[in-house]
Amino acid sequence: MSDVPAAEQSSTTPVTTPSSASSPVLTHSVADARAAVRRLRERGLSVALVPTMGALHAGHLSLVELARTQADVVVVSIFVNPVQFGPTEDLAAYPRTLDDDVRLLAGSAAVVFAPSAEEMYPDGWPQTLVTPGEIATRYEGALRPGHFAGVLTVISKLFHIVQPDIAVFGEKDAQQLAVVRRMVADLDVPVRIVGAPIRRDTDGIALSSRNRYLSESERATALFLSRAITAVAEQARDGVYPSAARAVGISLLEAQAGIEIDYLDIVDESTFTAVDDDFTGDARVIVAARVGTTRLIDNTPAHFGAGTEETA
Ligand code: PAF
Repeated sequence: MSDVPAAEQSSTTPVTTPSSASSPVLTHSVADARAAVRRLRERGLSVALVPTMGALHAGHLSLVELARTQADVVVVSIFVNPVQFGPTEDLAAYPRTLDDDVRLLAGSAAVVFAPSAEEMYPDGWPQTLVTPGEIATRYEGALRPGHFAGVLTVISKLFHIVQPDIAVFGEKDAQQLAVVRRMVADLDVPVRIVGAPIRRDTDGIALSSRNRYLSESERATALFLSRAITAVAEQARDGVYPSAARAVGISLLEAQAGIEIDYLDIVDESTFTAVDDDFTGDARVIVAARVGTTRLIDNTPAHFGAGTEETA
C-alpha cells in the first residue's frame, strides 16, 4: 500500500483501523468527516479525537498513541483555527505540513479531518462563540485576549462534527486543558477529556511546533524555561514555600540574556489561580517567555507538603 495519503478519498473508501499500517482516510469537509466517523460507529468502534493544528511532531504522536489506548479508533483533526489567533499573532506564518502530517499518522489514525477555514467558518468570523469565564482571564487568557474563546469554539465544533467518546489534549497547554475540562463540565458535553503528559527532547525542552523557529543559540537559551520550572518543583520537594520557590525560578530566568518573561507562576491546575504560601497539595508551575521572536510555554507538576519553609 502506498504511504502517500489518499487525499480526497471518497466517502465510500474503507476506513483504516489502528492495527493497519495504511494511510488514514483524509477528509476535508464536515459532511465527509461525519460520514467517515459514522462508518466507524456502524462497526461498533469507539472513537477518540485528537485535535491539532498540524505540523505534527513526536509530542502529537504521543497524544495519538495515548488515544489508541483509550478507544478503538482515532480521529485526528488538523486545523489552524483563525479564531484563536490574535491580530498580531503568527496565523499566516504558522507551519502547514499536511502531507507530512498525514504520512506520520499512517497506521495510527483512522481518519484525518483537515478542513479549510472556509469549511469551518463559511460565513467568516462566527457570530456564536463559546466564551470561558474567570479561569481564562489569567496568564494565556490575559496575554492573548479572545484566545480561549477561539479554542473552545473550535473544540465545540469539532466535538459536534466528530462526536468522539474521548478527546486527548496535551498537558503542555495546561491552561487550555483546564479550560476545556471546565467547558465539558459546565455544558455537560458527553466527551471524556484525557490529558497527555508533556514530551521532552533529551535536553529537557518541551516539544513544540514553534521550536523550529529557534536558532541554535536561541534553543540553548530556551532550555532555561524547563530548567527554571524544574528548579521550582525541586524547591517544593525540598519543603520551600511557593513564593520562595517561585522566586528561585524567576531569578534563574532573569539571569539569562535573551529571555523575556511573560510569567512564571505556581497555580492550582484546575482553577489557574496562583497558590499562596498556605497552599499544600498538587500544583502546576507554569512559564511563558519569548526567546528571540518565538514565544514558548512550558509547565511541570509540583507538590507542596505541609510544613514548608519560607526560604530556599
Ligand atoms: O492546542 C492546539 O493545537 C489548539 O489550541 C487546538 C486544541 C487544536 C484547538 O485549535
